[in-house]
Amino acid sequence: MIRLDGDLICLETDHTGYYMARRGALLETLHYGTKIQPDVPALREKTGAGYGTDVVVAGAEPDSLLHLCLELTPDGRGDFRMGMVSARFADGSTVCDWAFCGAEQKEEPLPPAGLPAAWGGAETLVNTFTTTKGLEAQLIYTLYPACDVITRRLRLRNTGDAPVTILRCLSSQLDLPRREYTLTTFTGAWARERRPQAAPLTEGVREFGSRTGNSSHYCNPFFQLAEPGAGEDSGRVYGFNLIYSGSHLERVETGPYGKTRVLSGIQPEHFSWTLAPGEMLDTPEAVLTFSRQGTGGVSRNLHRFVQRHIVRGPWADRPRPVLLNNWEATYFDFNEGKLLRLAKEAKKLGIELFVLDDGWFGKRDSDTCSLGDYTVNSKKLPGGLAGLGHKLNDLGLAFGLWVEPEMVSPDSELYRSHPDWAVQTPGISPALSRHQLVLDLCRPEVQDYLIGQLNALLDSAPIRYIKWDMNRHMTDCYSPVLAEQGRFSLCWMQGLYRVLEQVTGSHPEVLFESCASGGNRFDLGMLCYMPQIWTSDDTDAWERMKIQSGTSGGYPQSVMGCHVAASPNHQTLRTSQLEARFDVAAFGILGYELDVTRLSPAEKSVVAAQIAFYKQHRKLFQFGQLYRLASPFVPAAGGESCAWMVVSDDKTEALVLDAVGRIEPNSETPPLRLAGLDPNRRYRVESRAQKIDIRDFGTLLNAVLPVSVNTSGLLVHAAADRYMLDTEKESYTAAGDLLMEAGLRRKARFAGTGYNEEVRVMPDYSARLYYLTALPDALPAPEPGRP
Ligand code: GLA
Repeated sequence: MIRLDGDLICLETDHTGYYMARRGALLETLHYGTKIQPDVPALREKTGAGYGTDVVVAGAEPDSLLHLCLELTPDGRGDFRMGMVSARFADGSTVCDWAFCGAEQKEEPLPPAGLPAAWGGAETLVNTFTTTKGLEAQLIYTLYPACDVITRRLRLRNTGDAPVTILRCLSSQLDLPRREYTLTTFTGAWARERRPQAAPLTEGVREFGSRTGNSSHYCNPFFQLAEPGAGEDSGRVYGFNLIYSGSHLERVETGPYGKTRVLSGIQPEHFSWTLAPGEMLDTPEAVLTFSRQGTGGVSRNLHRFVQRHIVRGPWADRPRPVLLNNWEATYFDFNEGKLLRLAKEAKKLGIELFVLDDGWFGKRDSDTCSLGDYTVNSKKLPGGLAGLGHKLNDLGLAFGLWVEPEMVSPDSELYRSHPDWAVQTPGISPALSRHQLVLDLCRPEVQDYLIGQLNALLDSAPIRYIKWDMNRHMTDCYSPVLAEQGRFSLCWMQGLYRVLEQVTGSHPEVLFESCASGGNRFDLGMLCYMPQIWTSDDTDAWERMKIQSGTSGGYPQSVMGCHVAASPNHQTLRTSQLEARFDVAAFGILGYELDVTRLSPAEKSVVAAQIAFYKQHRKLFQFGQLYRLASPFVPAAGGESCAWMVVSDDKTEALVLDAVGRIEPNSETPPLRLAGLDPNRRYRVESRAQKIDIRDFGTLLNAVLPVSVNTSGLLVHAAADRYMLDTEKESYTAAGDLLMEAGLRRKARFAGTGYNEEVRVMPDYSARLYYLTALPDALPAPEPGRP
């Protein structure tokens, strides 16, 4: 709810409140956090005394800006912390003496021009500021009450009669009145994306973000600030994100007087945008949330927000299909026969969608050529895409296709006919990455070409899914169509968003999956057009636990593509159990990315059972509320572990992942405290029936077999191909409060002896799944006095 009450401005969601009030010419931030009963005199910063070298703005305030929490800070007037806006006026001056003009509630949202934005906001507020030199700033806030999310952005307008050059225009500034926070960023690289890095703030600046032309695997725009003592399930935590896919900046500054300023927005490096009189510039929306339920609460707020207000179209809440992708099965080496053999086997296993990855066009037998030439390679696919698509449909599979539209190979027909369409700086030979260049999406004709090309491709065959890839960072940035090169990064993104809007908008039934060498562009901007993202090229089960744990900080399982791949894994060469690979991938959008024709009969029946289990609980896996119970980044008793849980909104069903990394031998397994259940209901807890490869026991097999065998010999392999061992079974009922307070007491772990019903054989990198259903009858009401 938005309330304007004299000088007080209140923005309230279900559990949070953001309060501000006029303070002379300034707009003071009074409180952002738990919803309270606001009172302006009580919340105002008390600043009567003034300290040492304070700069005082004449006539406006008795004391310095540096002591205040502000919504928009004047630039060059004594607030020596960095602010949202930096501008240069026609006379060369740079001081912005922002003065607050007033607040206005709007009936309609005011989406930013040329940029994606959240949808379905409840109410919008605009705070307007002006400068003496004729620049106007509007701070635009939109509320998403049930998600406890507030979005913020900045709109600048030149109200003077001379041009103004904007050098920095961030989306959001949040000033907090204390500085004891732990900052967690989500950093990484290719194949190890979004690892939480937590460190307490110290006096000074923490600046992070990306300069790569994409939101980047190096540093996601999502980050959080936690008060001391906050943890996964309790304590005050703020979460921040940005609806943007290009280079971005986040900055946390603790000033000399114990306050924290949080900034986020477009990367200002190399940015400049000159506004002619009357012209306007919109920045991307920043996303803010707060929870007293710790980092888990922040995640669940953001998960709801992504599901209800970022992802859109018919696929927003539709269960996503189980797919088979041929990439790690064949790489570039395939033909129609090979694909159809994979597809036939996939169908038998229960797969619903067959995705043809890279290599189907031009002469692309490696990554050195042909990007841009999306004409089918008729040697590989003599019947074309339509031919393959119809054959897949006849098998009962939907057809999906890989493309990388934003790129061009120097060795391509497209580049030979339009060398000027590739981004490069005149006189400098452009840097290559994966042998490719970036198309200049600042050019309207390139945008139009891509829209036409992609629409024609989609209409040429029964394509129901597109994997939209983007496999390099941007360098050598320059576009001849821009009069001002400082506009390049934002113009390029606006060009891409236009293409995405047109292509996805004209094919609403097609499911789009964004990809950028895995998770190099995992952000809210992309999710406004594509309902899911390939989380990482790293498909190793244990690495995936880390990557998916980190990613889940700000993004729900319903947007994470997660595949079961071969073992040893192609990225890490690590071996992990087939069941563990599924258990982890199931907490996302399940796919398989391995040669299913080469699975043994025993493995095929395991995979078929996995897919059947997933389909039975798909809605819960994809859309259930997520609780992280044990972090793979924190070694615990018993070795490395990772545990997640998803709970249905009505708390009648839940699934628990219990996984281990490198185990410690002969260690007890402490009870696993569950979360999110109804404390007053009874649940049936059942372990998913899993299988163990007999070869996992190595030569120990001889200790149990009546005859001695060569455990790496043909006989054992032949037996293992047909026969697998059952895991232990666990099935009992227990009350929700017991499971959450006392915890799930799992059976003992194998420690050198014992393979029986009571022992969980869990080698390194293995996992279990538990399924919980509420029993129909509620427990009797608690006795009076019992908490
Ligand atoms: C990128 C993607 C992979 C695969 C290859 C194909 O690396 O992340 O999943 O599609 O491109 O070249």
